[in-house]
Amino acid sequence: MSVRRTAPAEVQPKEFAFTKENLAWAQTIIARFPEGRQASAIIQLMWRAQEQHHGWLPEAAIRYLADMLGMEHIRAMEVATFYTMFQLQPVGKKAHIQVCGTTPCRLRGAEDLIKVCQHRIAHDPFEVSADGNFSWEEVECLGACVNAPMALIWSDTYEDLTPQSLEKIIDGFAAGKPPQPGPQNGRQFSAPEGGPTTLTDAAIYAAKPKS
Ligand code: FES
Repeated sequence: MSVRRTAPAEVQPKEFAFTKENLAWAQTIIARFPEGRQASAIIQLMWRAQEQHHGWLPEAAIRYLADMLGMEHIRAMEVATFYTMFQLQPVGKKAHIQVCGTTPCRLRGAEDLIKVCQHRIAHDPFEVSADGNFSWEEVECLGACVNAPMALIWSDTYEDLTPQSLEKIIDGFAAGKPPQPGPQNGRQFSAPEGGPTTLTDAAIYAAKPKS
């Protein structure tokens, strides 16, 4: 599990503000909540702030959003530090790879995926690669266990991974052509690998209902 720690002071920007477009969007989101419940918009706004700020959420953005929603700063900090979808320190410009390391993914090869990240990106989680383009971390279950092992990159999941397919995905992001998300072994969503294994007798579909 990752340690949820904010970036050191020297890399924290002093200020953060939404762009004009993002501010207008934020106001429409906040307006969806009943009076007194504006704080419920915090996750959506944090996600947008993270997208605006090169994939990570500085402390200035957390304070800015707390003020916007009339929350104590510490309440917003609690949200940001709880969810691993929020990055609290700078990440790779092209991809931040979140490898699921919980039991089903671990049993299906997550450890080998982490070795690929260590080899291709950096030995330690949250360490940005020498070219500034990639970073990685291990996270807890991301809810796609049926397609284990898997990884989340930005807002897309890449599933049924092998070390080879993860290498290809990294190559795709490096070349500016992210591959298609989802299963990487050809299966459709979470359908059985290799095709159906039950109800395969065509006759059962041709049978006429009894009158
Ligand atoms: S254990 Fe990896 S997605 Fe659930």
